[in-house]
Amino acid sequence: MKHVIVFASGQGSNAAAIIDFFAGHDAVTVALIVCNNPKAGVVALARAHGIPLLLIDKATFSDAAAFARKLEGYNPALIVLAGFLWKVPETVVRAFAGKIINIHPALLPKYGGKGMYGMRVHEAVKAAGEAETGITIHWVNEHYDEGAAILQAYLPVAADDSPERIAQRIHRLEHYYLPRAIAFLLD
Ligand code: GRF
Repeated sequence: MKHVIVFASGQGSNAAAIIDFFAGHDAVTVALIVCNNPKAGVVALARAHGIPLLLIDKATFSDAAAFARKLEGYNPALIVLAGFLWKVPETVVRAFAGKIINIHPALLPKYGGKGMYGMRVHEAVKAAGEAETGITIHWVNEHYDEGAAILQAYLPVAADDSPERIAQRIHRLEHYYLPRAIAFLLD
């Protein structure tokens, strides 16, 4: 079995899509969920599916080497940042070089970087009058949202689309492509 570790901070709908996609899969399993927010939806999700959960706080990142060793204990083939809002420490990024991916709800390099997450992204896309937006699945390196792209999927934006409507459709794209990108990378 190839082990996937999913990092998430919020609602966890992408984590849910990954869990559902690999439920009963013969080669890939979600071995651990890492979360920095005890109130996040993803915590209940992990419990409901009996998936080990690691709740972390800022102190966890101050001893990044110990954190990396803990992750190593789960023998991950891939670490997936699925709506994880903290910057992963460089020590961890280096320890798992070529094994960490992130999903971003826009067509990077547009609408990326610090502070660009969640609805802020879709509001910015709307405010700029973009005719299209999309998702980017990319490798994680030491610079936020700057690793090489693995996959981008495009979404047309109509003049009367609200940021909320854009967000809903972006989530649907994410839920489709993220599990399949993981399967492709691990095949
Ligand atoms: C997603 O839009 C993802 O692209 C971004 O954060 C959001 C997380 O949503 N990085 P969810 O928690 O998976 O529902």
